[in-house]
Amino acid sequence: MLKQLEQQGLLASAKHSFRLDASQLIAISTAMLNPVTLLHGPPGTGKTTTIGGLLFFLRRTLGYKGKILAAAQSNVAVDNMLETAMKRGGLRVLRVGEPVKVRSSLQRYTLRAQVEAAVAKDTTICEAREEQRSLRQQLRTMRKSRRSSGYERKLLYERLDELNALIDKEVRRITQQLLAEAEVVGVTCTGAAGPELAGAAFDMVVIDEGSQASEPEALIPLMKGCRRVVLVGDHKQLPPVVKSSEAAAGGLGQSLFERLMDTGAPSAMLQIGSD
Ligand SMILES: Nc1ncnc2c1ncn2[C@@H]1O[C@H](COP(=O)(O)OP(=O)(O)OP(=O)(O)O)[C@@H](O)[C@H]1O
Ligand SMILES: [Mg+2]
Repeated sequence: MLKQLEQQGLLASAKHSFRLDASQLIAISTAMLNPVTLLHGPPGTGKTTTIGGLLFFLRRTLGYKGKILAAAQSNVAVDNMLETAMKRGGLRVLRVGEPVKVRSSLQRYTLRAQVEAAVAKDTTICEAREEQRSLRQQLRTMRKSRRSSGYERKLLYERLDELNALIDKEVRRITQQLLAEAEVVGVTCTGAAGPELAGAAFDMVVIDEGSQASEPEALIPLMKGCRRVVLVGDHKQLPPVVKSSEAAAGGLGQSLFERLMDTGAPSAMLQIGSD
């Protein structure tokens, strides 16, 4: 597979943009061949860079149209992955999660910031908000003058409710559109269970620092309907942090990554400098 891809010159662009070495190219072709792939290597061996190269290769070279979810156990790891995919690969990313937990350079890519920017330009919402302001003003005047009937006020309140429902619907439409347009959606494993991604489906899920996620945590993004999974990590060094000794005794200390490694799932090891 790797030979074929190289012969056809298909990997050249990803290799150049991400300065990938031989082990990283093998890792990418392993992830292309298998529905479940484990990419492992000690710290600093280029695992996150490989994810960037893989996503770039899929999207930019192969024209893959599937939805991609880039998840990780920690917010920092999600941000690292998105920055790598964005800077070197120029992919369109969307960061789902609490903006306070997202690094400043990615703030404008958060779903919340993107929704706010789109809402500010949306004529339906702007007009509805303008009408709401005017209705509230009318209600204040009515209350002061005490001359209006209860029926008149009821009509105004009903209209305000209608406008709220209209705005909510439009915000939901904008959110869905942003999620549909993003080439890579980044979220923490637990964040994938949040309301923003309720009902969202992804064809491929990549989990960076996957060996640090407990198995139930890793399963959250994997429950989003994916058909291809790439788990990235270092099972030899960083197990999931489990504070409860009872939970650890029950098996939560073993990551899905490690368990799949033990079963002999397809894997590739990264070794920096393997040209
Ligand atoms: N093929 C390569 N040649 C030279 N430098 C590389 C290569 N791949 C990655 N790097 C550089 O090595 C450093 C570590 O890369 P990266 O963050 O991808 O590793 P990692 O395995 O994800 O690290 P960690 O275990 O800390 O998450 C980065 O500065 C990256 O730019
Ligand atoms: Mg990394």
